[in-house]
Amino acid sequence: MTTTTASTSPRADNPLALITTPMFMTKKAPKVAEADKADFVGYCLTWYKFLKTHAENEETSLFLKVEELLDDKTIWQESNQEHADFMPGVEKFGKYLVNLKSPSDFSGTKLLEIMATFQESLEAHMRAEVSTIAQLSQHPRTPKEGSPEETATQTAFDTREGNNLMKSGLTDVLPFFLFNFDREYEDGLWRNWPPIPGPVRWVLMNVAKVLHPGWWKFAGCDGTTLKSALYAAPDSKREL
Ligand SMILES: [Fe+2]
Repeated sequence: MTTTTASTSPRADNPLALITTPMFMTKKAPKVAEADKADFVGYCLTWYKFLKTHAENEETSLFLKVEELLDDKTIWQESNQEHADFMPGVEKFGKYLVNLKSPSDFSGTKLLEIMATFQESLEAHMRAEVSTIAQLSQHPRTPKEGSPEETATQTAFDTREGNNLMKSGLTDVLPFFLFNFDREYEDGLWRNWPPIPGPVRWVLMNVAKVLHPGWWKFAGCDGTTLKSALYAAPDSKREL
């Protein structure tokens, strides 16, 4: 795969702020060519599945395990409310796409109308959850940094959450995540996260390209997981 990005091309994180996966779609949806509609619908449905399984996993696994560890049921109250605020709109998004009789019936305008009902609450949640998680370091029952308890807890969490991510969809959700993961972000601090061995990562992404060859051109990053120009934008230069 080759990707060429002209310096003047609109980037996947510009001019809108980061945490923009839904925003990518707001820019692309109205510009999707007739021939690309089926692939765009497939890509959007994968984003829907990704978001839904992620939120469900938090509510049924991560939140509960952290509550148990810290013996505190109040930690995720706001996060749970935020999920309740945006998920009904996200469900409408999925329902609209699933119920299309044919990809040619897809309307970017309609999709944007639905997205307008949850965009703000979703973005607010994604930002809020970062600080909620960061604040956990100040919790009186959080294991001390560098202690054996912290190492054991971290390993258990990474293993369980990594397995949950793998179970959410090896041929769609996981590649979706990898194709939208900017490995340069924060000077490459997260370059090797999640800790998937390089060859496995390569196989996952290439199998996904074989199974869904038309989807990934809509993703925020290219095959090397670097940011790329928007596919469905007139002045982007991009090849897949
Ligand atoms: Fe969440």
